[in-house]
Amino acid sequence: MPLTRRDFIARTAAAAATLSLTERLHAMRLATTVLPVGTAGAARIVSSTNGLRGVARAWEMLQRGDDTLDAIIAGVNIQELDPDDDSVGLGGLPNADGIVQLDASCMHGPTRRAGAVGCIEDIATPSLVAKAIMDYTDHIMLAGHDAKTFALEMGFTAQNLLTDRSRQNWLRWRARLNPGDFRLDYDDDVAIRFTHGTINMNAVNTAGDMSSVTTTSGMAYKVPGRVGDSPIIGAGQYCDQTVGAAGSTGRGEANIKACGGFLTVEFMRQGMAPEQAALKTLERVVAMTEARQMNDKGRPRFDLNIYTLAKDGRYGSASLYEGGTFAVADDKGARVETAAFLFKRAEFPTGPVPVQRARAR
Ligand code: GLY
Repeated sequence: MPLTRRDFIARTAAAAATLSLTERLHAMRLATTVLPVGTAGAARIVSSTNGLRGVARAWEMLQRGDDTLDAIIAGVNIQELDPDDDSVGLGGLPNADGIVQLDASCMHGPTRRAGAVGCIEDIATPSLVAKAIMDYTDHIMLAGHDAKTFALEMGFTAQNLLTDRSRQNWLRWRARLNPGDFRLDYDDDVAIRFTHGTINMNAVNTAGDMSSVTTTSGMAYKVPGRVGDSPIIGAGQYCDQTVGAAGSTGRGEANIKACGGFLTVEFMRQGMAPEQAALKTLERVVAMTEARQMNDKGRPRFDLNIYTLAKDGRYGSASLYEGGTFAVADDKGARVETAAFLFKRAEFPTGPVPVQRARAR
């Protein structure tokens, strides 16, 4: 018979009576952090806002009994294959050399498996490559040129992911990069778009089966070879279906140091509600942020968003700054909801983010 939480605490306390003070303190800490597993509840899909069409598709698939991971990967495929979405897949903004390099990862709760791909080129659906690595190899992550070779062997089709719009954006970025070089600036005022665009999606069905996936083209104009948080299991997404799933969008460098996906699930394991867990993770992100990325009021110069889903169907999202939203689909339909936040939007530092010329501190 499984041990209930009450039994566990009673047994721990009884055993503790024979222990030294240090051992007793350790046992008490264990007793307060080990929680019973969650129980299944409402089915639900939670995603970053750009997944609104995706959560609707994933929800339809859950309704006809499809696997949670198949459903959310079909959901994120919509954005990956959309040339007008410049944050993921086809049309994603390229690296500093004008080459689109993509990251993705996924976790399948029922079988406790994971797959990830970093820095892959020419394949529009890295979420499916991550799943293929999970399904057909004994590894969890492949990266770079060899990840593409693997994908081609698995039957994926190579294509140029740089759309004309993304190329024009990149050319403008490059032309304005250095006033002292020999490239003439474009005679226009088209804003150069920088993104940390990404899509994270998490699902639970009525049986309590859960999965998570995150896919991205990463930071626009990044140093070639840069890998963000999205393919890092435990950072860009994490799923332990005894508890829940969580993932992120926003500045990956900040999230990696806090292991945001894992930490959020662990906070839920300790008993926090999904939204509270996401806020607590963002507090850790702020605490782990280096000085050059903070303004003089101690506010981060970037945004980060966490999306969470508990096994019982409770859900939430939090952003560093006010104004964040997220997408949800359940028996009330697909919709956008408002995220919790740590800081008022008015506190967001204005002016250039000192990424390119900052001295390391
Ligand atoms: N969160 C996506 C990235 O930073 O690559």
